[in-house]
Amino acid sequence: MSSSSDNPFVRFTAFWWALGVFSLFGVLLLVTKLFTSDTEESNPLEEAAAAKRYEMRTTVDAAQAAGLGYKEVEKGKVVQVPPTVVFKHVGETLLAGKPEAVKQDTQIIPGGSAVKTGGDADYGAVDKLTPAADTPVDPAAMEAGKAAFMICMACHGANGEGGPVGPPLANNPTVAGPVSNLIRIQFRGLTGPIHVGDKEMNFPAPMMPVIAAQDDAYIANVLTYVRNSFGNKAGPVLPEQVKMLRSEIGKAVLTEADLIKH
Ligand code: HEC
Repeated sequence: MSSSSDNPFVRFTAFWWALGVFSLFGVLLLVTKLFTSDTEESNPLEEAAAAKRYEMRTTVDAAQAAGLGYKEVEKGKVVQVPPTVVFKHVGETLLAGKPEAVKQDTQIIPGGSAVKTGGDADYGAVDKLTPAADTPVDPAAMEAGKAAFMICMACHGANGEGGPVGPPLANNPTVAGPVSNLIRIQFRGLTGPIHVGDKEMNFPAPMMPVIAAQDDAYIANVLTYVRNSFGNKAGPVLPEQVKMLRSEIGKAVLTEADLIKH
């Protein structure tokens, strides 16, 4: 008896089966190539754009690594620089830059050489309009204010608790105090030292950003939110109060002495 592999007929069929399967793969490969050919074809415009994106990404990565956050302390050992050091550097660079005049007041950087003086608005008239502390607050204003607070959160904390680069807004008498102070801070920034209650605070650099380019409702809403969150309860801020103080935009950065006492 011989085994089936010795059988010439079995060998012959096996050969043709193998050849058949092999050619099937060949045909499949050809078909796939045909259908994918146009996506694989190189597109010079897309390649140029990709190269540009890559180049930009490399530049941004390098700039961030150099200026923001990370430092090689010894060969192969990279540590994160504390945020206070980074903010101090950014603040000092901005101030030292003293940007030149620009056409719109909203673009003047407090501390720059284009700063306006004089022409004080009637702050008292603005504060007289503030509704009483127990006035119901419009839920839509709170919702919009909460969304806007996302930028403030970075420095003042998600719950207004404060941190290394911003004072607490919770349980802070300035926040519950005259509305004109708060609006002017949004328009001109504020530089320390400041007092929260009787605690003196010194932040690394004047970091309170100016959001003068935002409209009246945006600024009113974010301040209304801050005055009615984190345990604070104070009258809402009205867009018309913000409007009355637009002439503040472009003036020098505020210090605590410029604010109305409370
Ligand atoms: C980059 C950090 C940063 C961001 C973002 C920021 N602030 Fe400030 N804010 C500060 C610092 C720092 C001070 C204190 C000023 C100082 O001492 O230089 C301050 C002060 C204030 C004060 C006055 C507090 C006091 O006790 O005098 C209010 C009110 C305030 N910020 C509200 C806001 C609101 C509202 C936003 C968002 C629209 C915001 N801040 C975004 C850093 C920041």
